[in-house]
Amino acid sequence: MRMTDLIQKKRDGGVLSGEEIRWMIQGYTKGDIPDYQMSAMAMAIYFKGMDIEETYALTMAMLNSGDKIDLSAVSGVKADKHSTGGVGDKTSLVLCPMVAACGVKMAKLSGRGLGHTGGTIDKLESFPGFSTSIAEDAFLRQVDQVGFAIAGQTAELCPADKKLYALRDVTATVASMPLIVSSILCKKLAAGADVIVLDVKSGSGAFMQTEEDAFGLARALTEVGRRAEKKVVAVVTDMDEPLGNAVGNALEVKEALAALRGEYKGDLMELCLTLGTQILREGGAADDDGQARAMLENAIASGAALEKFAQFVKAQGGDTAAVYDPSLLPQAPITVEVPARSGGHVKRIHAESVGLVSMRLGGGRAAKEDTVDLAVGVVLHKKVGDAVEPGESLGTIHARTQQAAQEAADMLRDCYELSPQAVTRAPLIKGVVK
Ligand code: URA
Repeated sequence: MRMTDLIQKKRDGGVLSGEEIRWMIQGYTKGDIPDYQMSAMAMAIYFKGMDIEETYALTMAMLNSGDKIDLSAVSGVKADKHSTGGVGDKTSLVLCPMVAACGVKMAKLSGRGLGHTGGTIDKLESFPGFSTSIAEDAFLRQVDQVGFAIAGQTAELCPADKKLYALRDVTATVASMPLIVSSILCKKLAAGADVIVLDVKSGSGAFMQTEEDAFGLARALTEVGRRAEKKVVAVVTDMDEPLGNAVGNALEVKEALAALRGEYKGDLMELCLTLGTQILREGGAADDDGQARAMLENAIASGAALEKFAQFVKAQGGDTAAVYDPSLLPQAPITVEVPARSGGHVKRIHAESVGLVSMRLGGGRAAKEDTVDLAVGVVLHKKVGDAVEPGESLGTIHARTQQAAQEAADMLRDCYELSPQAVTRAPLIKGVVK
């Protein structure tokens, strides 16, 4: 086989066979196929697409390029969750303990933040002593005994995806449906769970900006999952504003703890209840949506989810005092309010730009090697649909220095779009595809 022929075939709209796709991914992983040929292929796929058969073959070829996690030593049903990327998305911190308290185990591998998006691992490091570098056997034991674990990736999962994703990032080929589907699913399949719930974001801050594209991605993800004999559910959700109110590592942990104490009822909790309902249904822990939701709500009301979270922090070496007293989490020395220049109703909050405000304050990374300041970030006081009086605070900036706070305040004000008319907020949950 020759890579040039495969590129030409795809460029001209042809369909690649499973054998061709496997050969290409093996060759690329080993370094036999150079980046320049793979770039041309990624661009050909970007323009000509792939049918579901090809997408499935690409997913499996990338899955088989590296190690896989074997969760069979963990008793019961194991679930995993993934989001296509959001700002202020601390869902895993709330969802995992809720679901674990209801008897379904969660084995979650997470990453660090990059650019405007945050990473669960950075957020968790707000607990003094907390470690996400745990050996695979300790990870499995913890999932079995505590009910969930969140770790950084140790085994070499899907090296083909690692290479290809880095290449797509610099060749303007990230936003391709078959490339996104195979990239997300190969990693989720390698992580070994029985049930996979995917939060597919739709809107200005997401890969899929239109609802139609987001549902297309959701259908492709569930169809490839079905072919791989996994229960995959995709929930399409709105991303026209950050999720919840806090953006920034320790600030997001504080918000997640408030949710676990039952003191937060906004969009973050609605998303956790929706994703959790799907996990309990698919995992066989509940017979219908009503029962699943009641179980999850009870896990919050009874304190069982918060208790699970404390067990999890302790198991991973963290200081649990901060779970019950969030004032012990990292705190920024300077806080500044951001008064609105005019009144109106919030029409939109540019999520990506809010993520960049937090990054500029030091809460995110411009490059992989950067360290993050866990204490800084933004807490929004106004969300889409809210009325704003002139001079009323849109949010609070948490910063290291007065100058950084003032710069961030100006940036945050620009993230808000106000309308003179009342604004009706679009529903957070756009639909569930399974
Ligand atoms: N997330 C991934 O892991 N891969 C993609 O291609 C897009 C989002």
